[in-house]
Amino acid sequence: MKHATVLAFVSGAAAAATTTLPASAGVTSEPTAIPVSGEHDGGMMRYEREPAVCQEQTETGEDDAMFILEDGATLSNVIIGTSQAEGVHCRGTCTLNNVWWADVCEDAATFKQESGTSYINGGGAFHADDKVFQFNGRGTVVISDFYANDYGKVVRSCGNCDDNGGPRNVVIEDSVAVDGGVLCGINTNYGDTCQISNTCQDDGKSCDMYEGNADGDEPTKIGSGPDGESCIVTNLTEDC
Ligand SMILES: *[C@@H]1O[C@H](CO)[C@@H](O)[C@H](O)[C@H]1NC(C)=O
Repeated sequence: MKHATVLAFVSGAAAAATTTLPASAGVTSEPTAIPVSGEHDGGMMRYEREPAVCQEQTETGEDDAMFILEDGATLSNVIIGTSQAEGVHCRGTCTLNNVWWADVCEDAATFKQESGTSYINGGGAFHADDKVFQFNGRGTVVISDFYANDYGKVVRSCGNCDDNGGPRNVVIEDSVAVDGGVLCGINTNYGDTCQISNTCQDDGKSCDMYEGNADGDEPTKIGSGPDGESCIVTNLTEDC
């Protein structure tokens, strides 16, 4: 108890994020992605795909996810294992409560909502070679009390999707990210924003700005760091 108090104090503003993978309550293996409408509470079970579908950074699709959430669905208290490829796909707005990725494959979650707000409350992701969260839809994604360890970017607006555009708005608060790149990769030509507050990134990396496109080309990086307009940063610390 005393130890826990000391740790919470040291992590300061971002004390709400849990920084270790929770113990699992058991393992369940599924041959296909699990569809979720309404609510699914996994009770901290670890979910795997059998046979495994992870092919690292090879482009996979929704069928290779572990969970496919319909508009308005909520997924809570799950650990997503190494054998799946695309984690969670949200077809509309969704809420992810205490969702953990033990080892991200292609990415951890993809947001495809046409508008509205999706929420990630707590949870964390380990070992994302590239992106943790892929934002392909529109509207807002709010990430609170989240932990990322060993990753490329925490969230990236789609750089070159068909029908690409925006704006996409990202909010990251009370979170911790270590051993990785920027928190947000946004397309400023589409009016994207990233608002970061009370968060720790161990190199102080906040945003990279890109010129997104809809023709599949590699997007051009056009800036980096807080500009008070598209990348708004308050209380970003490096000691995490
Ligand atoms: C930044 O941190 C200070 C001190 O803890 C706090 O008073 C303030 O509300 C924080 N700012 C935001 C935008 O949360």
